[in-house]
Amino acid sequence: MTPPPLLREADRAAFEAAFAVLAEAALAGAPSPTPLIPGRPGPLVLTQEGAALEDVLAEMIGEVLPRAARGDHPRAFGFTPSPASPLSRLGDLLASTFNPHAGAWPQAEGPLAVERAMIRFMADAGGFPESAGGLFLAGGSAANLTAVVAAREARLGPDDTARGVAYLSEETHVSALKALRIAGIPDARIRRVALSDNMAMEPTALAAAVETDLAAGLKPFIVIATAGSTRSGAVDPLPAIADICEPHGLWLHVDGALGGSALLSPAHRHLLAGVERADSLGWDAHKWLFQTYGCAALLVRDQETLRRAFAVGPAYLEDAAAGEGEVNAWDLGPEMTRPARALKLWLTLRVMGTQAVGSAVAHGFQLVEWAEAALGETPGWKVVSPARMATLLFRFEDCEEDERDAVNAAAARRLLDDGYASVGTARVDGRLTLRICALHPEATEDDMRETVRRLDRFAREAAEARPSSRPQRSGEPGSCAE
Ligand SMILES: Cc1ncc(COP(=O)(O)O)c(C=O)c1O
Repeated sequence: MTPPPLLREADRAAFEAAFAVLAEAALAGAPSPTPLIPGRPGPLVLTQEGAALEDVLAEMIGEVLPRAARGDHPRAFGFTPSPASPLSRLGDLLASTFNPHAGAWPQAEGPLAVERAMIRFMADAGGFPESAGGLFLAGGSAANLTAVVAAREARLGPDDTARGVAYLSEETHVSALKALRIAGIPDARIRRVALSDNMAMEPTALAAAVETDLAAGLKPFIVIATAGSTRSGAVDPLPAIADICEPHGLWLHVDGALGGSALLSPAHRHLLAGVERADSLGWDAHKWLFQTYGCAALLVRDQETLRRAFAVGPAYLEDAAAGEGEVNAWDLGPEMTRPARALKLWLTLRVMGTQAVGSAVAHGFQLVEWAEAALGETPGWKVVSPARMATLLFRFEDCEEDERDAVNAAAARRLLDDGYASVGTARVDGRLTLRICALHPEATEDDMRETVRRLDRFAREAAEARPSSRPQRSGEPGSCAE
């Protein structure tokens, strides 16, 4: 029996029509930050004989995809949004349509040259030396994992692995804990360094912890610092941390999944001063560089550290050996077959220009400043952590103290149900706090003010609805501060 073609003749028209739908969807953007349809789709059956492409597309577009939140909506402020540009979507489509094998240089010289150019551009933005390099990975978690493995290989000898100690803080993203676990560093050898008042790692506590571990015969090998923490946008004091790392030979990894993008805004790049002394920097393009998911860079100050950690070179890959000046991406990280992730970022930066991308990043800083100003003018609200790296933590406090967690949670829930915007929640000192992370270049001051206005209404309604709590209308901004 002749095998069937990969696309049936009868489906060609539906295939072509799908591109018009895609173009329209990419240009229109997300209709709502929250799912358009709640709940699970109906039975998603496969049949032996298949189905018409037109029908399956209708199911996908009508039933499956509307059941997902849209982090690319201008008022998606929960989690870390992903305001992907239409250009990134186009670059993604091109990459998946031409589908280059971006593991080996001889297989994909063009796409890998683009990846090298993007890594160089980002390394230059970070102030890394000529020896720097890196690669694109699926996200910040993969970047943290790759950095931790590189650090382990560079700093711990074969007999040291059982003594290696890692340092991070309560603000560090959980993916760093996953990374350490995968790399064989147990929880007992992970130190959570105390935070200072601004939620950044306290360098004196770090220095003391390193000294204690050295005195105990352990082998401190990595500090995972953060530039733009997920919860509060805090940036750890990189120069002071580098001062502690360098004399002891600790690898300094900076998780800049969010904050790396500040390097492209001339008015904000000073926030990452000291990053040029890091051994590695993770930087997500699918957060604040306007890319669709699956696009993050890991930069290292010496590309050879990645090669030493990951290159294996089995005999059956001899045909794909890289020549002089060529880089096989599979030698620098955990993946062999990999998509050409840098293409969409290159397309976006090449078309928009780096200056426009820098101003789009700067806009995120502005958005949360507008929200903070609106909160300051709204009685009963307390800013728990100020506008930093497009992130803001705040809380309604114009109600009984023991009702506040429930009232704030209800306000966030009501805003989601309302569909106007989405905000996240986070715990700070055990208290439930609302969190806005605002990255979309098309979000406006009105969007931020109206979000605050609605949250205020929902919080007051939730407080009124609780039997034991009646708002104590004080009239003073932030007057409920503890
Ligand atoms: C600071 C930080 N690091 C790492 C990550 C993990 O990145 P990803 O979800 O792209 O794997 C995040 C995700 O929000 C983050 O905020």
